[in-house]
Amino acid sequence: MAVFAIRWRRVVATFVLAFAFTATALAQERRSYAPPDLATVRAIAAEHGMVVAQERLAAQVGADILRQGGNAVDAAVATGFALAVTYPRAGNIGGGGFMVIHSTERKEDVAIDYRETAPAATTRDIFLGPDGKPDTDKSRNSALSIGVPGTVAGLTLALAKYGSGRFTLAQILKPAIELARDGFVVTDDMADTLSDMYRRMARWQNATGTLSRTDGTPLQEGDRLIQADLAGTLSAIAEQGPRGFYEGPVAERLAAAVRDAGGIMTVDDLKSYEAVIRSPVRGSYRGYDIVSMPLPSSGGTVLLQSLNILEGFAISDMKHGSADSLHLMIEAMKRAYADRARYLGDPAFVNAPVNVLTTKEYAARQRAGIDPARATPAGDVLAVSPREGSNTTHYSVVDATGNAVSNTYTLNFPYGVGLVAAGAGVLLNNELDDFTAAPGASNAFGLVGFEANLPGPGKRPLSSMSPTIVLKDGKPVLVTGSPGGSRIISAVLQVVIDVLDYKMDVAAAVAAPRVHHQWLPDEVRVERGFPDALLAELKAKGHKVVEPLGQTSANSIAVTPGGLFGAPDPRTRGAAAAGH
Ligand code: GLY
Repeated sequence: MAVFAIRWRRVVATFVLAFAFTATALAQERRSYAPPDLATVRAIAAEHGMVVAQERLAAQVGADILRQGGNAVDAAVATGFALAVTYPRAGNIGGGGFMVIHSTERKEDVAIDYRETAPAATTRDIFLGPDGKPDTDKSRNSALSIGVPGTVAGLTLALAKYGSGRFTLAQILKPAIELARDGFVVTDDMADTLSDMYRRMARWQNATGTLSRTDGTPLQEGDRLIQADLAGTLSAIAEQGPRGFYEGPVAERLAAAVRDAGGIMTVDDLKSYEAVIRSPVRGSYRGYDIVSMPLPSSGGTVLLQSLNILEGFAISDMKHGSADSLHLMIEAMKRAYADRARYLGDPAFVNAPVNVLTTKEYAARQRAGIDPARATPAGDVLAVSPREGSNTTHYSVVDATGNAVSNTYTLNFPYGVGLVAAGAGVLLNNELDDFTAAPGASNAFGLVGFEANLPGPGKRPLSSMSPTIVLKDGKPVLVTGSPGGSRIISAVLQVVIDVLDYKMDVAAAVAAPRVHHQWLPDEVRVERGFPDALLAELKAKGHKVVEPLGQTSANSIAVTPGGLFGAPDPRTRGAAAAGH
C-alpha cells in the first residue's frame, strides 16, 4: 500500500503538466456562464408528456410522437434520430451513448449501452507515439480515434424492446429523414460552433460539404442545411432496420471513409457491433431511488458514490451555494473520481469493484476522511481503497403514463473527429480518446486513467455519461443528465442535490452555478456566478479555485403531483422543452 501511495503521488505531480495541454485542447468549448437570478427562474410546465432537448426541432419531433400516443421510448428514439440531423455537433448516428429507461408498462428499469467499440485491429499501444509516449493527435484528431458507432443499434434496440409498438421504425424516422432531405434553418448557436470547428473539419477531403456555402465558407445563421446523403442513410435504416447501417452500401461507405482517412474500422467491425441491455446502477439517497448508467460509463457509479458520501452530512442545513455545502460536494467528487481513475473500465474486460464502491459502508469510510474545514490534497485521497479492504448532448423524456427516458449520446468532441463519411453523410466520432493511452495518461477532459481503461480490440472506452432517473416509491420524480465530459457527473450530482436536498424548482437547480473536482488536476473548477467572498472562503479551506468551468447542459424534467416541469439548460443557446 505504501509503494502504491508513492506511485499515486508521482502521478499527481506529473499530471499537472499533462493537464496544461488538455486544457488548451478544450479551450474552444469553454464559455463563461452568467446565471440568472435563481429566485425568479421557473420551469416550463406540461400536463401529459414532455421532451427537453438541446435543439428545438428535435424536441418537437419527440413531443409530436407523444401527442400521437407514443410512449417515452418512441419519443426518445425519434428525438435521437432527429438530433443527428438538427444538432450535428453532438446528436449523431456516427457516435454512441447510453439510455436509461423507466418502463411502467414492463415494471422495469433498464440501461441500454450503445457505446462505441474499438475496432478489432486496435492494439494496446495504438495511441502511443514512436517515443512510447501518448500521442494526443492520434487519439483526438486522427481516424484511429473513430470507434464503431453504436447509436443506430442502441436506438433501434430501445424502440423494439421498450417502444409502445404503435409506431414502425420507418414512422419514427420519418421526421428526421424529412429534416435531412428538405433542410432546416441554421440557428445562431449552430453557426457559431460550426465556424469554430470548421478548420478542424476541413482537414478531411469533402468533409465540410453540406456544412459549407457554395463559396466554401461555413454556413451562417439563417442559411438552410440540407443533408441529402444523411437522408439516404436514414432511409436505409427505415427500410432495413439496423442492417441498413451496419451492413451493405452504408457500412461499405463508412468503412471506406475511415480507411481512406488512415483509420482501421472495417465492415466486419460494423457488422459485429451490438448494443447491450444492462441492469442500471441502483442506489438510494435520502429515501429516493437513484437509477443511473452502469459501466462502461463511470457516470452512475461515481454519482452514487458521491451521493452516498454526502448522505452522511446535513446538506440542507447548510445554505445553498455556501462554502460549507460546496466544500463537502467537492470532497465527495474528489474521492469518487479518484476511484474512477483507478478501477473503472469496460466490464467485458475489467472486473471493477462496483459492488464495493457503491455501498454505504464504503462511503462511510471515505466520509470519515473528509475534514469539513480543509481540502484533502488529491495525493492523499487514495489512502482509502476498496482493495485494502465537447461533445455530447443530453435529453430527457416523460410520457403521460410515467415512462421516462434519460438519454446522453455523443461524438466526443463537437462534430467528433470532423470527418463526414462520403456518400453516407455520417459525421464520425473520436470517442477512442476516452481510452487511457498509457497508464497515468489523461484524455482530452483531463481524466487520468490506468490499466482498466487501456485500449483493446472490441473494448468500450470508459465514459462519464450519466443519464439518470430519480424515483420515489417506484415513480420518476426527476429525469436528468448532461454533456460535458468529465464534468457530466458533477453536474448531475448538483442537480440531484439541489432538487432533493434544497427542494429547488428544477429550472433553478439546472441554472445554479456549478463546481467541479475530478481528483486530478487537484483544483476546483467553478462557473461564473459565485460571489468573490464565496470563492475566498473555498480558498481559505485549501482549495485551488480555477475559473472557468467547461460547458455542461443538464436538460431535465421534474415530475410532480402538479404536472411535468421541464428545464432546458440556459447555458447553451437552443435548448428547448416541448410538451403537451
Ligand atoms: N466522451 C465523453 C464521455 O463519454 O464521457
